[in-house]
Amino acid sequence: MSERVIPLVDHRTQGLVATLPPQLIAATGLLADGLGRPLRDLRISVTDRCNFRCSYCMPKEVFTSDYAYLPHRALLTFEEITRVAKQFVAHGVQKIRLTGGEPLLRKHIEVLVAQLAALRTTDGKPLDLTLTTNGSLLRKKARALKDAGLNRVTVSLDGLNDAVFRRMNDVDFPVADVLDGLQAAQEAGLGLNAQGQPTGLKVNMVVKRGTNDDQILPMARHFRGSGITLRFIEYMDVGATNGWRMNEVMPSAEVVRHIHSEMPLAQLDPSAPGETAERWGYAGPDGQHDPALGEIGVISSVTQAFCGDCNRARLSTEGKVYLCLFASQGHDLRGFIRGTPGADGSLGHPASDDELASAIGAIWQGRTDRYSQLRASLPPDEAQKSGRRVEMSYIGG
Ligand code: GTP
Ligand code: 5AD
Ligand code: SF4
Ligand code: SF4
Repeated sequence: MSERVIPLVDHRTQGLVATLPPQLIAATGLLADGLGRPLRDLRISVTDRCNFRCSYCMPKEVFTSDYAYLPHRALLTFEEITRVAKQFVAHGVQKIRLTGGEPLLRKHIEVLVAQLAALRTTDGKPLDLTLTTNGSLLRKKARALKDAGLNRVTVSLDGLNDAVFRRMNDVDFPVADVLDGLQAAQEAGLGLNAQGQPTGLKVNMVVKRGTNDDQILPMARHFRGSGITLRFIEYMDVGATNGWRMNEVMPSAEVVRHIHSEMPLAQLDPSAPGETAERWGYAGPDGQHDPALGEIGVISSVTQAFCGDCNRARLSTEGKVYLCLFASQGHDLRGFIRGTPGADGSLGHPASDDELASAIGAIWQGRTDRYSQLRASLPPDEAQKSGRRVEMSYIGG
């Protein structure tokens, strides 16, 4: 008797497959998407697991011990990631960010870092190679990451008050250990740009009104003048599990006003096109930015969309390319590169580098995504209902 298998609907496994376009698309570094946007930034998720349960990202009620995380065989190997990354770089990528989940949970992550650090941009320069982490494993890993060629890290930290932070990470993790991880990263010299000049580390704080907005000033005071750039992120409606509500979003303009009333700020120019953060420098007594006091950033994806020059592609843990943080489907490259017989998108043989470059080229050329901009024209709770989106822990921040 044959067994009837009823497949579970899982947004991670549905989707689009990479295909070979009728004509090869050579990687010239000049690729543009359907809205004329170049490809500059690749964010690679190396695991969908995390040891934290931040309610805005991996709420405990959903991400239980029974949650169906991806099995190990589904993940791209380091060699596969590097092969794919190399073709993205040939198309113009200059910055690679490793994310997760928590990327430091992936075993021997420094081996991948070393492979990626050997890549060169189309004009022969090293990549801006960085990683987003919750900091919990940084004390253990910072030195090995630096030695492998990582330039810098961005550490997530949602408050300085221990009770508030423990509640937000929802696994009772103490602030002191994240600060210690941050210090380890500083000691290891993980705060460089692609040219090897010091830029300092970054700390990301997601602001949820009524949950941690009382931490804005303590965090600003703590990091002002420390050489670390603190960035405030508007709580976003990513994924489908965090129960997002507009009234929990604190607009960046309000954050800036709040800090400015105690520590005067002066707006700074963006340091690169397509940047996510708006920069504000701490001002000295003359009202001008005093570089010794450093700067903050605000990332206003909800109140001021920055899709217009979005140059970011995302590679999921299992090898799907997502063209937007809010996309519901990704383009699967895994079957394509493995040439697995019968796999969707398989050419019947492992894809050559030229075939891989062409598939990536075609995917980017077809891109018209601009979710945050479109959402701005809809009533907030209406936009939230539009489509089933993937979780940020799966495609990476
Ligand atoms: P840096 O080069 O270090 O400045 O990196 P970045 O500006 O890309 O910042 P980072 O990766 O630290 O991203 C900070 C946060 O901004 C993420 O955790 C997301 O919350 C948000 N973010 C990043 N990229 C995007 C994007 O493409 N769209 C939207 N809507 N939000 C984004
Ligand atoms: N809104 C804003 N940022 C988020 N992140 C995860 N979920 C959200 C969300 N709902 C980002 C945070 C965190 C990083 C790992 O992912 O910046 O620091
Ligand atoms: Fe983990 Fe970062 Fe998501 Fe928190 S925000 S659950 S630390 S991946
Ligand atoms: Fe880019 Fe999508 Fe974010 Fe807009 S919403 S900035 S298109 S990732």
